[in-house]
Amino acid sequence: MAAPICVLGIETSCDETAAAVLRRAPDGTVTILSETVHSQIDEHAPYGGVVPEIAARAHADIADAVVAKTLQDSGIELADLDAIAATSGPGLIGGVMVGMMTGKAMALAADKPFVPINHLEGHALSPRLADPCPFPYLLLLVSGGHCQFISVTGLGQYQRLGSTIDDAAGEAFDKLAKTLGIGFPGGPAVERMAAKGDAKRFALPRPLLNRSGLDMSFAGLKTAAARVVEAEALDAQGEADLCASFQAAIAECLAEKTRRALSAFAEEQSGEIRLVVAGGVAANQMIRSALNQVAEAAGASLIAPPLRHCTDNAAMIALAGAERLAAGMVSDEGLAFSARPRWPLDEERAKSAPAYGGGKRGAKA
Ligand code: KG4
Ligand code: ZN
Repeated sequence: MAAPICVLGIETSCDETAAAVLRRAPDGTVTILSETVHSQIDEHAPYGGVVPEIAARAHADIADAVVAKTLQDSGIELADLDAIAATSGPGLIGGVMVGMMTGKAMALAADKPFVPINHLEGHALSPRLADPCPFPYLLLLVSGGHCQFISVTGLGQYQRLGSTIDDAAGEAFDKLAKTLGIGFPGGPAVERMAAKGDAKRFALPRPLLNRSGLDMSFAGLKTAAARVVEAEALDAQGEADLCASFQAAIAECLAEKTRRALSAFAEEQSGEIRLVVAGGVAANQMIRSALNQVAEAAGASLIAPPLRHCTDNAAMIALAGAERLAAGMVSDEGLAFSARPRWPLDEERAKSAPAYGGGKRGAKA
Protein backbone atom coordinates (compact mmCIF):
# COMPACT_ATOMS: atom_id res chain seq x y z
CA MET A 1 0.00 0.00 0.00
CA ALA A 2 1.33 3.45 -0.88
CA ALA A 3 2.43 5.54 2.09
CA PRO A 4 1.81 9.25 2.73
CA ILE A 5 4.44 11.57 1.32
CA CYS A 6 6.07 14.37 3.31
CA VAL A 7 7.60 17.24 1.34
CA LEU A 8 9.30 20.53 2.19
CA GLY A 9 8.52 23.28 -0.32
CA ILE A 10 10.42 26.54 -0.84
CA GLU A 11 9.17 29.61 -2.75
CA THR A 12 11.29 32.68 -3.52
CA SER A 13 10.38 33.70 -7.08
CA CYS A 14 9.04 37.18 -6.34
CA ASP A 15 8.72 39.08 -3.08
CA GLU A 16 7.73 36.43 -0.55
CA THR A 17 10.24 34.16 1.13
CA ALA A 18 8.10 31.12 1.90
CA ALA A 19 8.46 27.56 3.12
CA ALA A 20 5.97 24.82 3.97
CA VAL A 21 5.95 21.20 5.03
CA LEU A 22 2.96 19.07 4.10
CA ARG A 23 1.86 15.49 4.12
CA ARG A 24 -0.10 14.11 1.18
CA ALA A 25 -2.00 10.87 1.68
CA PRO A 26 -2.29 8.42 -1.23
CA ASP A 27 -5.95 9.47 -1.69
CA GLY A 28 -4.78 13.05 -2.31
CA THR A 29 -5.75 14.44 1.11
CA VAL A 30 -3.31 17.14 2.15
CA THR A 31 -2.30 18.14 5.67
CA ILE A 32 -0.20 21.28 5.93
CA LEU A 33 2.10 20.68 8.90
CA SER A 34 3.70 24.10 8.90
CA GLU A 35 3.82 27.14 6.70
CA THR A 36 5.71 30.45 6.73
CA VAL A 37 5.33 33.38 4.36
CA HIS A 38 7.69 36.28 4.94
CA SER A 39 6.65 39.22 2.80
CA GLN A 40 9.15 41.84 1.61
CA ILE A 41 6.41 44.39 0.94
CA ASP A 42 7.94 47.01 3.25
CA GLU A 43 11.27 46.84 1.47
CA HIS A 44 9.73 47.40 -1.99
CA ALA A 45 6.96 49.82 -1.03
CA PRO A 46 9.11 52.99 -1.35
CA TYR A 47 9.71 52.09 -5.02
CA GLY A 48 6.08 51.25 -5.85
CA GLY A 49 7.06 47.85 -7.22
CA VAL A 50 9.32 44.86 -6.66
CA VAL A 51 13.00 45.73 -7.17
CA PRO A 52 14.77 42.52 -8.31
CA GLU A 53 18.11 43.21 -6.63
CA ILE A 54 16.48 44.12 -3.32
CA ALA A 55 14.31 40.99 -3.56
CA ALA A 56 17.29 38.70 -4.19
CA ARG A 57 19.25 40.12 -1.26
CA ALA A 58 16.26 39.92 1.07
CA HIS A 59 15.68 36.27 0.12
CA ALA A 60 19.37 35.50 0.67
CA ASP A 61 19.25 37.16 4.11
CA ILE A 62 16.30 35.21 5.39
CA ALA A 63 15.69 32.01 3.37
CA ASP A 64 17.68 29.72 5.68
CA ALA A 65 15.93 31.04 8.81
CA VAL A 66 12.48 30.73 7.19
CA VAL A 67 13.18 27.16 6.12
CA ALA A 68 14.68 26.17 9.50
CA LYS A 69 11.71 27.61 11.42
CA THR A 70 9.19 25.93 9.11
CA LEU A 71 10.89 22.57 9.44
CA GLN A 72 10.99 22.94 13.20
CA ASP A 73 7.31 23.97 13.37
CA SER A 74 6.34 20.90 11.35
CA GLY A 75 7.75 18.47 13.91
CA ILE A 76 9.32 16.52 11.03
CA GLU A 77 13.03 15.78 10.92
CA LEU A 78 14.93 16.56 7.72
CA ALA A 79 15.82 12.85 7.56
CA ASP A 80 12.12 11.93 7.53
CA LEU A 81 11.17 14.06 4.52
CA ASP A 82 10.51 12.22 1.26
CA ALA A 83 11.67 15.10 -0.96
CA ILE A 84 12.52 18.78 -1.10
CA ALA A 85 10.81 20.91 -3.73
CA ALA A 86 11.66 24.49 -4.66
CA THR A 87 10.41 26.97 -7.21
CA SER A 88 13.03 26.87 -9.97
CA GLY A 89 11.33 29.36 -12.30
CA PRO A 90 9.77 31.40 -13.75
CA GLY A 91 10.42 34.56 -11.77
CA LEU A 92 13.08 37.04 -10.72
CA ILE A 93 16.16 34.96 -11.25
CA GLY A 94 18.17 36.15 -8.22
CA GLY A 95 15.40 35.13 -5.86
CA VAL A 96 14.66 31.88 -7.69
CA MET A 97 18.31 30.90 -7.36
CA VAL A 98 18.36 31.57 -3.61
CA GLY A 99 15.41 29.23 -2.96
CA MET A 100 16.53 26.63 -5.43
CA MET A 101 20.09 26.49 -4.09
CA THR A 102 18.81 26.29 -0.50
CA GLY A 103 16.62 23.34 -1.50
CA LYS A 104 19.39 21.66 -3.45
CA ALA A 105 21.89 22.01 -0.61
CA MET A 106 19.45 20.47 1.85
CA ALA A 107 18.57 17.67 -0.55
CA LEU A 108 22.22 16.91 -1.14
CA ALA A 109 23.09 16.97 2.57
CA ALA A 110 20.14 14.75 3.53
CA ASP A 111 20.35 12.53 0.46
CA LYS A 112 16.78 13.30 -0.60
CA PRO A 113 15.37 13.85 -4.08
CA PHE A 114 15.28 17.52 -5.16
CA VAL A 115 12.20 18.43 -7.19
CA PRO A 116 12.48 21.61 -9.31
CA ILE A 117 8.98 23.10 -9.53
CA ASN A 118 7.48 25.49 -12.05
CA HIS A 119 5.91 28.27 -9.95
CA LEU A 120 2.93 28.32 -12.32
CA GLU A 121 2.32 24.61 -11.73
CA GLY A 122 2.19 25.46 -8.03
CA HIS A 123 -0.61 27.98 -8.72
CA ALA A 124 -2.30 25.50 -11.08
CA LEU A 125 -2.44 22.82 -8.36
CA SER A 126 -3.16 25.21 -5.46
CA PRO A 127 -6.92 24.42 -5.27
CA ARG A 128 -5.96 20.81 -4.46
CA LEU A 129 -4.47 21.92 -1.14
CA ALA A 130 -7.93 22.28 0.38
CA ASP A 131 -10.31 20.59 -2.03
CA PRO A 132 -10.07 17.31 -3.97
CA CYS A 133 -10.61 19.37 -7.16
CA PRO A 134 -10.19 16.45 -9.59
CA PHE A 135 -8.76 16.97 -13.09
CA PRO A 136 -9.79 18.31 -15.52
CA TYR A 137 -10.46 21.96 -14.75
CA LEU A 138 -10.10 25.32 -16.40
CA LEU A 139 -7.60 27.54 -14.62
CA LEU A 140 -7.61 31.31 -14.76
CA LEU A 141 -4.26 32.33 -13.35
CA VAL A 142 -4.36 36.03 -12.70
CA SER A 143 -1.45 37.49 -10.75
CA GLY A 144 1.17 40.23 -10.85
CA GLY A 145 3.27 38.36 -13.38
CA HIS A 146 0.77 36.22 -15.27
CA CYS A 147 -2.68 36.28 -16.76
CA GLN A 148 -3.69 33.16 -18.63
CA PHE A 149 -6.28 30.47 -19.19
CA ILE A 150 -4.94 26.95 -18.85
CA SER A 151 -6.79 23.72 -19.44
CA VAL A 152 -5.47 21.43 -16.68
CA THR A 153 -6.19 17.82 -17.65
CA GLY A 154 -3.69 16.05 -15.40
CA LEU A 155 -0.46 16.50 -13.49
CA GLY A 156 2.00 18.06 -15.94
CA GLN A 157 -0.72 18.37 -18.59
CA TYR A 158 -1.35 22.02 -19.22
CA GLN A 159 -2.73 23.54 -22.38
CA ARG A 160 -2.71 27.31 -22.78
CA LEU A 161 -6.05 28.49 -24.14
CA GLY A 162 -5.36 32.21 -23.89
CA SER A 163 -3.03 34.71 -22.31
CA THR A 164 -2.38 38.39 -21.90
CA ILE A 165 -0.34 39.63 -24.82
CA ASP A 166 1.31 42.37 -22.74
CA ASP A 167 0.84 43.15 -19.04
CA ALA A 168 -0.68 40.93 -16.37
CA ALA A 169 -3.82 42.24 -14.69
CA GLY A 170 -2.04 42.54 -11.32
CA GLU A 171 0.73 44.54 -12.96
CA ALA A 172 -1.89 46.99 -14.27
CA PHE A 173 -3.38 47.37 -10.75
CA ASP A 174 0.12 47.96 -9.36
CA LYS A 175 0.87 50.57 -12.01
CA LEU A 176 -2.30 52.55 -11.38
CA ALA A 177 -1.61 52.52 -7.63
CA LYS A 178 1.91 53.75 -8.27
CA THR A 179 0.67 56.54 -10.55
CA LEU A 180 -1.82 57.62 -7.88
CA GLY A 181 0.70 57.10 -5.08
CA ILE A 182 -1.77 55.06 -3.03
CA GLY A 183 0.41 52.15 -2.00
CA PHE A 184 2.00 48.86 -2.90
CA PRO A 185 0.92 46.22 -3.71
CA GLY A 186 -1.54 48.08 -5.85
CA GLY A 187 -4.43 45.65 -6.13
CA PRO A 188 -5.68 45.89 -2.55
CA ALA A 189 -5.11 49.68 -2.51
CA VAL A 190 -7.11 50.17 -5.73
CA GLU A 191 -9.85 47.86 -4.43
CA ARG A 192 -10.16 49.88 -1.20
CA MET A 193 -10.39 53.17 -3.13
CA ALA A 194 -12.80 51.68 -5.66
CA ALA A 195 -15.25 50.85 -2.89
CA LYS A 196 -15.86 54.61 -2.50
CA GLY A 197 -15.93 55.41 -6.20
CA ASP A 198 -18.32 55.62 -9.15
CA ALA A 199 -17.36 53.01 -11.75
CA LYS A 200 -19.28 54.87 -14.49
CA ARG A 201 -17.39 58.15 -14.15
CA PHE A 202 -14.53 57.34 -16.56
CA ALA A 203 -15.04 55.48 -19.84
CA LEU A 204 -11.90 53.35 -19.94
CA PRO A 205 -11.16 50.91 -22.79
CA ARG A 206 -11.83 47.16 -22.66
CA PRO A 207 -8.85 45.99 -24.76
CA LEU A 208 -9.39 42.99 -27.06
CA LEU A 209 -12.95 42.54 -25.84
CA ASN A 210 -14.38 43.10 -29.30
CA ARG A 211 -11.99 40.62 -30.80
CA SER A 212 -12.69 36.92 -30.85
CA GLY A 213 -10.41 34.55 -29.01
CA LEU A 214 -9.16 34.22 -25.47
CA ASP A 215 -6.15 36.51 -25.45
CA MET A 216 -6.21 39.53 -23.18
CA SER A 217 -4.42 42.87 -22.98
CA PHE A 218 -4.10 45.35 -20.14
CA ALA A 219 -1.32 47.71 -21.26
CA GLY A 220 -3.72 50.04 -23.11
CA LEU A 221 -6.03 50.24 -20.12
CA LYS A 222 -3.09 51.04 -17.86
CA THR A 223 -2.00 53.84 -20.20
CA ALA A 224 -5.54 55.20 -20.52
CA ALA A 225 -5.82 55.45 -16.74
CA ALA A 226 -2.42 57.16 -16.52
CA ARG A 227 -3.61 59.72 -19.09
CA VAL A 228 -6.64 60.54 -16.95
CA VAL A 229 -4.32 61.18 -14.01
CA GLU A 230 -2.13 63.43 -16.16
CA ALA A 231 -4.99 65.33 -17.75
CA GLU A 232 -7.25 65.95 -14.76
CA ALA A 233 -6.46 67.37 -11.37
CA LEU A 234 -8.21 64.57 -9.54
CA ASP A 235 -9.43 65.15 -6.01
CA ALA A 236 -9.90 62.26 -3.59
CA GLN A 237 -13.34 61.45 -5.04
CA GLY A 238 -11.92 61.60 -8.57
CA GLU A 239 -9.20 59.13 -7.64
CA ALA A 240 -11.77 56.80 -6.11
CA ASP A 241 -13.91 57.08 -9.26
CA LEU A 242 -10.89 56.27 -11.43
CA CYS A 243 -10.06 53.22 -9.30
CA ALA A 244 -13.67 52.04 -9.52
CA SER A 245 -13.79 52.57 -13.31
CA PHE A 246 -10.47 50.79 -13.72
CA GLN A 247 -11.45 47.83 -11.55
CA ALA A 248 -14.75 47.52 -13.44
CA ALA A 249 -12.90 47.48 -16.78
CA ILE A 250 -10.57 44.69 -15.64
CA ALA A 251 -13.44 42.72 -14.11
CA GLU A 252 -15.44 43.02 -17.33
CA CYS A 253 -12.52 41.90 -19.52
CA LEU A 254 -11.74 38.93 -17.26
CA ALA A 255 -15.40 37.94 -16.98
CA GLU A 256 -16.11 38.04 -20.70
CA LYS A 257 -12.93 36.17 -21.63
CA THR A 258 -13.68 33.61 -18.90
CA ARG A 259 -17.17 33.12 -20.34
CA ARG A 260 -15.61 32.31 -23.70
CA ALA A 261 -12.88 30.15 -22.19
CA LEU A 262 -15.45 28.11 -20.25
CA SER A 263 -17.44 27.53 -23.38
CA ALA A 264 -14.31 26.41 -25.31
CA PHE A 265 -13.27 24.19 -22.40
CA ALA A 266 -16.73 22.63 -22.08
CA GLU A 267 -16.61 21.63 -25.75
CA GLU A 268 -13.50 19.54 -25.08
CA GLN A 269 -14.52 18.03 -21.72
CA SER A 270 -17.46 16.02 -20.53
CA GLY A 271 -18.95 15.87 -17.03
CA GLU A 272 -18.84 18.56 -14.41
CA ILE A 273 -17.09 21.75 -15.50
CA ARG A 274 -14.86 23.35 -12.89
CA LEU A 275 -13.36 26.83 -13.06
CA VAL A 276 -10.41 27.47 -10.79
CA VAL A 277 -9.20 31.00 -10.23
CA ALA A 278 -5.77 31.49 -8.65
CA GLY A 279 -3.16 34.23 -8.29
CA GLY A 280 -3.19 37.41 -6.24
CA VAL A 281 -5.82 39.24 -8.32
CA ALA A 282 -8.27 36.46 -7.41
CA ALA A 283 -8.39 38.13 -3.98
CA ASN A 284 -10.40 40.99 -5.52
CA GLN A 285 -14.02 40.69 -4.39
CA MET A 286 -15.53 42.39 -7.43
CA ILE A 287 -13.55 40.18 -9.80
CA ARG A 288 -14.49 37.10 -7.80
CA SER A 289 -18.16 37.90 -7.91
CA ALA A 290 -18.02 38.66 -11.66
CA LEU A 291 -16.35 35.27 -12.23
CA ASN A 292 -18.89 33.61 -9.97
CA GLN A 293 -21.72 34.94 -12.10
CA VAL A 294 -20.03 33.74 -15.27
CA ALA A 295 -19.47 30.28 -13.80
CA GLU A 296 -23.08 30.06 -12.60
CA ALA A 297 -24.44 31.08 -15.98
CA ALA A 298 -22.31 28.37 -17.61
CA GLY A 299 -23.40 25.72 -15.09
CA ALA A 300 -19.80 25.44 -13.87
CA SER A 301 -18.54 25.44 -10.32
CA LEU A 302 -16.05 28.11 -9.25
CA ILE A 303 -13.23 27.00 -6.99
CA ALA A 304 -10.97 29.64 -5.49
CA PRO A 305 -8.28 28.63 -3.03
CA PRO A 306 -8.34 30.44 0.32
CA LEU A 307 -6.74 33.86 0.02
CA ARG A 308 -3.40 32.85 1.54
CA HIS A 309 -3.05 30.15 -1.10
CA CYS A 310 -4.21 32.44 -3.95
CA THR A 311 -1.12 34.59 -3.50
CA ASP A 312 2.44 33.27 -3.55
CA ASN A 313 3.09 30.57 -0.96
CA ALA A 314 5.23 27.48 -0.51
CA ALA A 315 2.43 25.00 0.30
CA MET A 316 1.51 24.92 -3.39
CA ILE A 317 5.16 24.23 -4.27
CA ALA A 318 5.37 21.40 -1.71
CA LEU A 319 2.12 19.99 -3.10
CA ALA A 320 3.44 20.03 -6.67
CA GLY A 321 6.53 18.18 -5.39
CA ALA A 322 4.42 15.62 -3.51
CA GLU A 323 2.12 15.02 -6.49
CA ARG A 324 5.12 14.56 -8.79
CA LEU A 325 6.77 12.15 -6.37
CA ALA A 326 3.55 10.15 -5.94
CA ALA A 327 3.14 9.94 -9.72
CA GLY A 328 6.71 8.71 -10.25
CA MET A 329 7.56 11.92 -12.11
CA VAL A 330 10.69 12.77 -10.13
CA SER A 331 14.04 11.97 -11.73
CA ASP A 332 17.59 11.91 -10.41
CA GLU A 333 18.29 14.98 -12.53
CA GLY A 334 16.79 17.46 -10.06
CA LEU A 335 20.14 18.61 -8.71
CA ALA A 336 21.33 19.40 -12.23
CA PHE A 337 18.35 21.62 -13.03
CA SER A 338 19.22 25.23 -13.92
CA ALA A 339 16.94 28.01 -12.70
CA ARG A 340 14.73 29.37 -15.48
CA PRO A 341 13.65 33.05 -15.50
CA ARG A 342 11.07 32.11 -18.15
CA TRP A 343 9.32 28.77 -18.06
CA PRO A 344 5.91 28.63 -19.73
CA LEU A 345 3.53 25.95 -18.45
CA ASP A 346 2.55 25.00 -21.99
CA GLU A 347 6.00 24.97 -23.60
CA GLU A 348 4.81 23.63 -26.93
CA ARG A 349 2.33 26.43 -27.41
CA ALA A 350 4.82 29.03 -26.15
CA LYS A 351 7.24 27.88 -28.84
CA SER A 352 4.79 27.52 -31.71
CA ALA A 353 2.63 30.56 -30.87
CA PRO A 354 4.30 32.79 -28.27
CA ALA A 355 1.72 35.03 -26.59
CA TYR A 356 4.31 37.48 -25.30
CA GLY A 357 7.95 37.77 -24.44
CA GLY A 358 10.47 36.38 -26.86
CA GLY A 359 13.97 36.93 -28.17
CA LYS A 360 16.92 35.14 -26.63
CA ARG A 361 15.20 34.69 -23.29
CA GLY A 362 12.21 32.91 -24.81
CA ALA A 363 8.45 33.37 -24.49
CA LYS A 364 6.77 34.05 -21.16
CA ALA A 365 3.61 32.22 -22.23
O1 KG4 B 1 0.07 35.77 -7.04
P1 KG4 B 1 0.74 36.99 -6.48
O2 KG4 B 1 0.86 37.09 -4.97
O3 KG4 B 1 2.20 37.13 -7.02
C1 KG4 B 1 2.54 36.90 -8.34
O4 KG4 B 1 2.45 37.88 -9.10
O5 KG4 B 1 2.90 35.74 -8.65
O6 KG4 B 1 -0.04 38.25 -7.05
C2 KG4 B 1 0.30 39.56 -6.71
C3 KG4 B 1 -0.55 40.51 -7.54
C4 KG4 B 1 -0.14 41.96 -7.39
O7 KG4 B 1 -0.07 42.53 -8.67
C5 KG4 B 1 -1.29 42.55 -6.58
O8 KG4 B 1 -1.51 43.93 -6.83
C6 KG4 B 1 -2.45 41.71 -7.02
O9 KG4 B 1 -1.92 40.41 -7.15
N1 KG4 B 1 -3.54 41.74 -6.04
C7 KG4 B 1 -4.76 42.26 -6.28
C8 KG4 B 1 -5.47 42.18 -5.05
N2 KG4 B 1 -4.66 41.60 -4.13
C9 KG4 B 1 -3.47 41.33 -4.75
N3 KG4 B 1 -5.30 42.78 -7.38
C10 KG4 B 1 -6.56 43.25 -7.30
N4 KG4 B 1 -7.30 43.23 -6.16
C11 KG4 B 1 -6.80 42.71 -5.02
N5 KG4 B 1 -7.53 42.70 -3.90
ZN1 ZN C 1 2.66 33.66 -8.23
